[in-house]
Amino acid sequence: MHPTDRRRTLITGATGFIGSHLAARLVADGWEVHAVLRPESQADALPPGVVPHVHDGTTAQMHTLVAAAAPSVVFHLASVFVAQHQQEDVTRLVRTNVEFATQLLDAMAASGVRHLVNAGTAWQHFENGDYNPVCLYAATKQAFEALLTFYVETARIRAVSLRVFDTYGPGDPRPKLFSVLDRIAREGSELAMSPGDQLLDLVYIDDVVDAFIAAARYLQAGAGAAHEIFALSSGDAVSLREVATRYGRIAGRPLPIRWGSRPYREREVMVPWFLGSPIPGWTPQVSLEEGLRRVIAHAQSRAT
Ligand SMILES: NC(=O)c1ccc[n+]([C@@H]2O[C@H](COP(=O)([O-])OP(=O)(O)OC[C@H]3O[C@@H](n4cnc5c(N)ncnc54)[C@H](OP(=O)(O)O)[C@@H]3O)[C@@H](O)[C@H]2O)c1
Repeated sequence: MHPTDRRRTLITGATGFIGSHLAARLVADGWEVHAVLRPESQADALPPGVVPHVHDGTTAQMHTLVAAAAPSVVFHLASVFVAQHQQEDVTRLVRTNVEFATQLLDAMAASGVRHLVNAGTAWQHFENGDYNPVCLYAATKQAFEALLTFYVETARIRAVSLRVFDTYGPGDPRPKLFSVLDRIAREGSELAMSPGDQLLDLVYIDDVVDAFIAAARYLQAGAGAAHEIFALSSGDAVSLREVATRYGRIAGRPLPIRWGSRPYREREVMVPWFLGSPIPGWTPQVSLEEGLRRVIAHAQSRAT
């Protein structure tokens, strides 16, 4: 075991959008990268060079797994995300975002692993509240942090929770805004949307990865309080309508969107949380204009 090895890490959610980019960057930077997978994970989505460990769902095996990986820092990104939950989502939200995550903390405590970078969400702060969850998903993120406090106090774990805002980048497989804009740009099919005045705070994937790595450095430098919260924000909120307009301009054709033909959803975030501070040593490098160019160039190269 090498608990003090500074370039050994364990990632949860390493097959996801942010996790896979983070894992690839860490491998490229010479880190030994271990990943916690589930039996149903898409292991082929793991970047080359990542060491997979399949978690069987038990706390005991999580302890064995973390001890074997012996990371100096854990990046916790695994999550179920549902914007508006249905009855059948409750169990999986709590199982993954609270139970699995607490098993991870317990195993870290048992192995003496002290550093955690945790992916939270800006949706924990509806209408700029200290804590006001937009939805049940955001509430489970907060519940995890309440449990984290126990391990911070009793096992000397030190943690940074990043409040992640909207993220985007080329080839994003998630069914989110840009895959929809790409589809209507290609097909010319009309899309019904809300009035589009909600402000989006979009951070390009390379900047997101930089922020996670800056958080690990911050912990390893021994700076700050035992659990700190930082905003992974672009600092440049733009309305949904403006994002779609810019997308259409760069893609070379206006997007056929019928604005206002759908209502805003309940608890729609009209103005993203703006009271957080960025992680020290990090500022976003990729402007929205440049990020959109990269996303559109990638989408167009795949279409030809
Ligand atoms: N991207 C955003 O815009 C955004 C905004 C706010 C917060 N965040 C937070 O940032 C983190 C990473 O986000 P992401 O967008 O990269 O997520 P993602 O692409 O949806 O990936 C999440 C990963 O979680 C793992 N997972 C574990 N249990 C799961 C389950 N029951 N169902 C589905 N997935 C499960 C999966 O990885 P394995 O199969 O490898 O376990 C999955 O690939 C998450 O914690 C998310 O809540 C993201």
